[in-house]
Amino acid sequence: MQPLWDATHLIGDADALGKVMQERGYWFFRDVLDAGAVKRMRDRYMAFLRDGGVIAADADEPIWNGAPLDNIPEKIEPLHEQRAWRSFVAEPTIHAFFTRLLGVAPFWIPSVEYRITPPRKGLVNDFLTGRHQDGFANGGIELLTCWVPLTDIDGEVGGLAMAEGLQKGGILHDLNDVPKHRIPDGAIPDDVWHRSDYRPGDLVMFCPEIPHSGMVNRSDKFRLSVDVRVMPITGKLPVVGNVVEIGSDYVVTANHDGRDVRLILDDNTYCRGITGARIPLPDMVERVQPGDPVIVSFEGEHAVLLRPQR
Ligand SMILES: [Fe+2]
Repeated sequence: MQPLWDATHLIGDADALGKVMQERGYWFFRDVLDAGAVKRMRDRYMAFLRDGGVIAADADEPIWNGAPLDNIPEKIEPLHEQRAWRSFVAEPTIHAFFTRLLGVAPFWIPSVEYRITPPRKGLVNDFLTGRHQDGFANGGIELLTCWVPLTDIDGEVGGLAMAEGLQKGGILHDLNDVPKHRIPDGAIPDDVWHRSDYRPGDLVMFCPEIPHSGMVNRSDKFRLSVDVRVMPITGKLPVVGNVVEIGSDYVVTANHDGRDVRLILDDNTYCRGITGARIPLPDMVERVQPGDPVIVSFEGEHAVLLRPQR
């Protein structure tokens, strides 16, 4: 597979970076995130694996000891409960990097995944684990996904692969394949995929439109990564806050900027449940309680997307 195009030398040149995002759909930066901050996040993952008994008690690397993986989900709920990402993005060095990169302060969208991808033994009939576009179900929010490797990730361990250039091809998901909305087999040629060997400190940022996927992990190690989502604070920010009130056709949210924002809910509102799948509006209204943290994107007075924070 072709390597990702390294844009590290363009940091500080907003025009050049903008062109790269347009042409390639992503930025790949080498060794830009503070090693201490990345290690502190990685330590949380290692503690989780240690507690789960799947790595040695004194392991420096997340090498699988062969114990059953039944209690090791790919997405780690205890880290969600700890809101681990908030500590990460609040690290002064991390905040400073993103401020320099974006030219203004970062605004973090509370949509985060902590990923532990276990080794996969035996025959696998696909080299990718889930082709998708983040923009398919994010209500038009112009965010950038930030994929942060927490360990060395070589070709055996797998990691993130990007369908370079296909960010210009529109949404490829199958709208009739409810509820998975997968990108159908064959929609993306195998030869457009790009990946690199990743190291802690590296960062891949990409636009909502580019198809991407994790790769199968064929090594003996767990693959550890976190993805967080960011916008420039000057962008068209969604409503992010806690629900004040919700009814069958409206939601009021205490927005991050101090305002209470009332938006109309209707059949066009994409109600996204906790798994990412679309759910009917009445189910969403029943599920969401005052005080719940949500993200709501909008056009005028209409809610385009309503989803829980995560
Ligand atoms: Fe994604």
